[in-house]
Amino acid sequence: MRIACLGGGPAGLYFAIAMKRRDPRHEIVVVERNRPYDTFGWGVVLSDETLVNLAASDPESADAIRREFVYWDDIAVFYRGTVTRSSGHGFCGIGRKRLLNILQDRARALGVTLQFETEFESADDYRGLDLVVAADGANSKIRSALAHVFKPDIDVRACKYIWLGTRQRFQDAFTFIFEETGHGWIWAHAYQFDAETATFIVECSEATWRRFGFDGMSQDETTAACERIFAKNLGGHRLETNARHLRGSAWLNFHRVLCEQWSHENLVLMGDAAATAHFSVGSGTKLALESAIALAEYLHTEPTLEAAFHRYEQQRRTEVLRLQSAARNSTEWFEQVERYLHLDPVQFNYSLLTRSQRISHENLRTRDKAWLESAERWFEEQATREKPDHARPPMFTPFRLRDLQLKNRIVVSPMAQYRAVDGTPTDWHLVHYAERAKGGAGLVFTEMTCVSPEGRITPGCAGLYAPEHEAAWKRIVDFVHDETDAKIGMQLGHSGPKGSTQLGWETMDAPLAEDNWQVIGPSPVAWSPCNQVPREMTRADMDTVTDDFVRAAHMAARAGFDLLELHFAHGYLLSAFITPLTNRRADAYGGSLLNRMRFPLEVYHAVRAAWPAAKPMSVRISATDWAGEEGITPEDAVDIARLLGEAGVDIINVSAGQTSAEARPVYGRMFQTPFSDRIRNETGIATMAVGNIYEPDHVNSILMAGRADLCCLARPHLADPYWTLHAAAQLGYRGETWPKPYLAGRDQLYRVRSRPDPSAVNV
Ligand SMILES: Cc1cc2nc3c(=O)[nH]c(=O)nc-3n(C[C@H](O)[C@H](O)[C@H](O)COP(=O)(O)OP(=O)(O)OC[C@H]3O[C@@H](n4cnc5c(N)ncnc54)[C@H](O)[C@@H]3O)c2cc1C
Ligand SMILES: Cc1cc2nc3c(=O)[nH]c(=O)nc-3n(C[C@H](O)[C@H](O)[C@H](O)COP(=O)(O)O)c2cc1C
Repeated sequence: MRIACLGGGPAGLYFAIAMKRRDPRHEIVVVERNRPYDTFGWGVVLSDETLVNLAASDPESADAIRREFVYWDDIAVFYRGTVTRSSGHGFCGIGRKRLLNILQDRARALGVTLQFETEFESADDYRGLDLVVAADGANSKIRSALAHVFKPDIDVRACKYIWLGTRQRFQDAFTFIFEETGHGWIWAHAYQFDAETATFIVECSEATWRRFGFDGMSQDETTAACERIFAKNLGGHRLETNARHLRGSAWLNFHRVLCEQWSHENLVLMGDAAATAHFSVGSGTKLALESAIALAEYLHTEPTLEAAFHRYEQQRRTEVLRLQSAARNSTEWFEQVERYLHLDPVQFNYSLLTRSQRISHENLRTRDKAWLESAERWFEEQATREKPDHARPPMFTPFRLRDLQLKNRIVVSPMAQYRAVDGTPTDWHLVHYAERAKGGAGLVFTEMTCVSPEGRITPGCAGLYAPEHEAAWKRIVDFVHDETDAKIGMQLGHSGPKGSTQLGWETMDAPLAEDNWQVIGPSPVAWSPCNQVPREMTRADMDTVTDDFVRAAHMAARAGFDLLELHFAHGYLLSAFITPLTNRRADAYGGSLLNRMRFPLEVYHAVRAAWPAAKPMSVRISATDWAGEEGITPEDAVDIARLLGEAGVDIINVSAGQTSAEARPVYGRMFQTPFSDRIRNETGIATMAVGNIYEPDHVNSILMAGRADLCCLARPHLADPYWTLHAAAQLGYRGETWPKPYLAGRDQLYRVRSRPDPSAVNV
């Protein structure tokens, strides 16, 4: 094949090598504007895994790269006068210039033509060849010229950064330095890449950058200012720039690039031209090199160019999206770092290490057991106010709200059972809640329990509006208190516009086939075209509903519940007041967020007055409507939480969505936890996280990073009422209490778990 690689960065050069290795007959030219020994940028980081891939593709260049590597294992974090070190992270660094020189030499040796100091303007000059590879970096000219074909999605990120170098040694650790200045926080990512030189990337928010006046500074003024800021860590060494080719100060915003299509006729995108990964996950060069290997391989195994492009894009896109998702988490963490700057250094370090969500709690234990255990001991000390002798997993530490002491951080999330008869809980409820209380969770929530017959969602919903309801709930509460050390919380709600609908396993949220009752709401906005249009509530309706909540709260107090939660989420009555999607009122209860919160807060205050002062209250909210700016946004959720906090709510249960049939939720592991994180760390109010949290590892990571105080698990508790006790066994933790009649089962489980391969053992 006759091939042109447009761009002589890692992608273009390595693709040329990988092709020549597979067939020396290929005629390849690499076109590059710079001279071979120009050096723009400093060091790059690669992982051992990438090195293995390089060695399999071309052992000669892999050996040369390996010989130049600087290895380090630790991450050191300088923050608020402390240095926290953890180990086991395993990086290697190499100078970008050295890497390029090795690849240039190897390409030349394999017979590739290297054409330096040549600026290409358009791919058209090369399209007569068999294949044209656009490897011209993140600002690819070739991609821009065909933007209508490749459809690039370019997300310009918020922080400002500058890539500098220094002779100061950061020999033994990848180092993060956070400095608080009169202009705001500014931080550096520093790592050694050869015996004398280290990369030193400086980053800050745009606001801080402007306050420093970096926008008006030359490169020399910038480096001088950065030297002053980071003087404590530079040991008298200078910061240097080698981006003289850039006009102005050389500060940049990271561009996240992703293209809808990666090839067109005989032209294909590669490396940063196709997709970028933020430098804080150190994977851009890895992506470029591994994409080069993949395309070279498919060009030799697939029958046509088109088929090779298809396989290349299919295989590499998955990898790119996986990395970009981790990179997005990491980018956002740095963009929002000011949210975490109140954290204790231990928790701050943990939050930084787990920022991409690729590294979990147990993964950190494998990397550095001693450090993780010291962090766990710190967490426990915060929870118990006592110095522990040994570490225990964060999920098994106690938590206090007013006079309520929970034995651990696991909560059985509210889950409607649709098994009540005229609102009365039955034996189903006794068995269901009793099993979950025996199963080890610190707090078991009831399902949404309705404050009036019309406030029910379905005819099967449980209520708390008649004496027989109170008696039935008391029987359940008494069992939980007499037989277990779990606590039990009552969730009270009113269905509003989503009332008079079918059971959960029938057609959810659809009206009943017959005997529908009139539903009410803030405005005459139906949940969906098939649902009833609710009657707009009058002031008298509001008083009735408030009285219903107060009556239910008195009943819950008499039944002995430990905590009371009000349901302000999921599109039910109080949620329907909060979201502008269903609240169209023109009176004092509609319009601004303050007005939309007025009725829910009135209900809260009335209930709080009726509920014993020593017992805590929580409120569940939908932190986003998943409907863009039209609905509640995560930013609004912070304001909602503030209003609730000011009203005295003890903890916010942070759910999301179910407020509009038009919503477009983005699901995934722990997908709602970022909303809890934001609320907790921006307002200082305690939170519960919920939503696709199903592994002990998820819970421990969330708690240890300060993203929530409690974790609610719903579906995992339907599948396994004993989730908490099983999690303890999985982690080898023996501090949880099992019901006495089940002790033999506990002993067997721990015995089996402690054996190397439990599935192979016959007990
Ligand atoms: C601050 C920072 C730190 C980074 N740290 C790391 C890290 O630690 N680890 C890591 O793996 N990655 C890192 N990266 C990313 C990494 O540098 C890129 O992902 C990688 O270089 C991509 O390789 P590429 O060949 O696709 O593009 P590039 O390396 O950008 O190469 C493109 C080449 O094309 C040439 N070119 C462009 N247009 C023309 C033209 N019109 N005519 C002629 N030549 C042209 C350019 O001169 C350049 O040499 C970092 C990036 C930044 C910005
Ligand atoms: C069967 C079922 C019933 C539910 N009923 C309620 C409810 O009554 N009140 C409530 O706030 N959330 C309810 N939810 C939502 C859960 O509490 C939880 O927020 C959601 O399932 C996400 O958590 P998970 O991923 O752990 O299941 C219900 C969920 C399920 C699966």
